[in-house]
Amino acid sequence: MSALTATSSELSGQVALVTGAASGIGAATALALAARGAHVVCADIQPATATLGKLRELGGEGSEVRFDLSDRDSVARAVTQAAPTGRLDILVAAAGIGFSGPLLSSDDDWDRVINTNLSGTFATLRAAWPHLRASGQGRVVVVTSMGAYRGGFHFGPEYNASKAGLIGLVRHYALHGGPDGIKVNAVAPGFIETPFVAGLPYDAAAIPVGRLGQPDDVAEPIAFLCSQAASYVTGAVLHVNGGVFFG
Ligand SMILES: NC(=O)c1ccc[n+]([C@@H]2O[C@H](COP(=O)([O-])OP(=O)(O)OC[C@H]3O[C@@H](n4cnc5c(N)ncnc54)[C@H](O)[C@@H]3O)[C@@H](O)[C@H]2O)c1
Repeated sequence: MSALTATSSELSGQVALVTGAASGIGAATALALAARGAHVVCADIQPATATLGKLRELGGEGSEVRFDLSDRDSVARAVTQAAPTGRLDILVAAAGIGFSGPLLSSDDDWDRVINTNLSGTFATLRAAWPHLRASGQGRVVVVTSMGAYRGGFHFGPEYNASKAGLIGLVRHYALHGGPDGIKVNAVAPGFIETPFVAGLPYDAAAIPVGRLGQPDDVAEPIAFLCSQAASYVTGAVLHVNGGVFFG
């Protein structure tokens, strides 16, 4: 992973909470932030043991919190656990679900995906907000999707609606975070090879850069949005899709 080589102390002393850190984009992001010196709290519904193992091999600092994004109380507890001293500088909200669904999804699928991806991410941001404000240099990066713009593809309507809703959430908090130094942005990945999309028929030849994305391809732009270099960037959606869609 490129995160292994991108070592610096840029985020030294900062605490980052990364949801979905057990796998895929969240795991790569945890490594990318740790490689820049942050203490990374890896939050997921499944054990983040592998991510933490790699992170420590890197010489990074991290810890783990187990939580369920679809449960508001669990989200609030996770944020409290992530910031035992009250310090939290960075939130990367990468956890999410989707079902390869038909045009007309069931009510259950709709409720589950909206409740997890949209309401759960809102609950995470809301719980983290006082800590980010206290930080004075808070950064939030929400992982949305190209599907929020283009619709269709392999997931049901609730998935794309949840990801479009996240963009409204990001813009709302970006406006309100400005005076407190909090920058709130999103990344919108295209086709990234992770367990989330395993088995789906993606055609690399149809992607202008000629390959599927890898988790690091998204983690590095996220790390940029968490950096000082992005201190004048807020309310933005960074499209990370190999040229499939220009945003
Ligand atoms: N892979 C892609 O092509 C792609 C494209 C666009 C957007 N995304 C988004 O990127 C994000 C990360 O996905 P990924 O591709 O790395 O998939 P992934 O399946 O590898 O990672 C998702 C992580 O979220 C965790 N998670 C799921 N439900 C949870 C819950 N209720 N509570 C806590 N954690 C939960 C999973 O355990 C997993 O570790 C997702 O939000 C996804 O919608 C992915």
